[in-house]
Amino acid sequence: MNYQSHKNSDIKASFGDALLASLAPDGGLWMPEEIPFFKPTETARMGAMSFADCAAELASHFTDSNFSPAVLRELCRDAYNFDVPMVTLSGERLDPALAPDAENFVLELFHGPTLAFKDFAARFMGRAASHLMGTTKQKRTILVATSGDTGGAIGDAFLDQDGINVFILFPKGGVSKVQEQQLTTMGTARSNVKAICVDGTFDDCQQLVKQAFGDRKLTQDYSLMSANSINVGRVIPQSFYYFWTSLQAKAAYPKRPIVYSIPSGNLGNLTGGLIARKMGAPIDRFVIGNNVNDPFVDYLSTGVYTPRPSVPTLSNAMDIGRPNNFPRILSLFDDVYADVLDVCWGASFTDQETERHIRRVQNETGYIMCPHTAVGHLAMEQFAEDVGHPITKITVGTAHPAKFADSVERILHTDISLPNALAKVMKKKKRMHVMAPTLEDLTDYLAINA
Ligand SMILES: Cc1ncc(COP(=O)(O)O)c(C=O)c1O
Repeated sequence: MNYQSHKNSDIKASFGDALLASLAPDGGLWMPEEIPFFKPTETARMGAMSFADCAAELASHFTDSNFSPAVLRELCRDAYNFDVPMVTLSGERLDPALAPDAENFVLELFHGPTLAFKDFAARFMGRAASHLMGTTKQKRTILVATSGDTGGAIGDAFLDQDGINVFILFPKGGVSKVQEQQLTTMGTARSNVKAICVDGTFDDCQQLVKQAFGDRKLTQDYSLMSANSINVGRVIPQSFYYFWTSLQAKAAYPKRPIVYSIPSGNLGNLTGGLIARKMGAPIDRFVIGNNVNDPFVDYLSTGVYTPRPSVPTLSNAMDIGRPNNFPRILSLFDDVYADVLDVCWGASFTDQETERHIRRVQNETGYIMCPHTAVGHLAMEQFAEDVGHPITKITVGTAHPAKFADSVERILHTDISLPNALAKVMKKKKRMHVMAPTLEDLTDYLAINA
């Protein structure tokens, strides 16, 4: 599979080159030249596989000759060694025998090591990049801006990998206590993963990373690579779980159309879902939940896209005023607004509404949602009000509530127990460099530490 710049389809690269270069030479985002389509007989076969093996088969269509089927199978089995459950709010798993009337599921994508959906992409990307480093003997410096979850997942996936240094930029006061602890306690002082606390917002962090990539000398001196969702290596693996889980849901409830609700910020997760749908996954529609940083939901209701500065909210990982993947979404629909509307529906919610929803769901069912998942679930409820026929509703659970224990405990007036791995992290000593959001400060820091 080749990749092309979303700005100019004549600019092409192999998967490996697109992954390592992050952006196309014209500043465009890499997109697959052609998305493979699987007929129902093929999807039925793939849905019967384990998630890891289905992911490996899908990956074989998106990678290049550096990745044999055997390499991809091993890579995916190693990366995806955790559960991908769809559960009802009362805790039953998707299974018509156990939950014959169930129609309201949460796809819990937070059972990986850093307890957020970012593990799916980061663990594939980390292993794919490391495989390429081994075969091509290259070195890379990864700069990653994080609103909380990406940094942890990337740091965990790349920790102690030869030939790669990772610098995680996070906004001061803009991530949860647990996320900050995860970001700043990886490895040792000499490890290849370092945390930088930027005195600014997440948009400032993203801007700084973009500026660094726009600086030819810096890019060349350090062989910079992005691990944010501008990198197509982050987006492709996010299609795998939509593909596989929609096949499980269709097999369980064949008559009902399937709708996913995605709590969204940079729209990387939605891009993965749209790619899965194009591959033949039986997905009827996507519902997009935004917090008050809602340029995409605004675009859906007006047809006009107006990026703007972000404001801090309870669902901090979605505090994005200029979603990186918006151009990818447009290119998947050939820029036809009416076609976007046929597939995507959106709604946005205030922190007050989100808090109320977290409380209501917990009161009525006992299920505890993180603030991001709650935004997605609220959006799904609103969407379903107007649908006159039965549908299978799948809200994407993007993070474990314990990652946002500070806010969830305040909202519910109850203690949230931390999973064991997280409890250990909370005892570690934090290490980070604090700096102003300027390219000069970043350059000085890289000169000493990269
Ligand atoms: C917990 C959580 N939910 C939702 C999102 C939004 O995902 P995306 O940026 O792909 O739209 C993020 C991204 O950082 C996240 O960490």
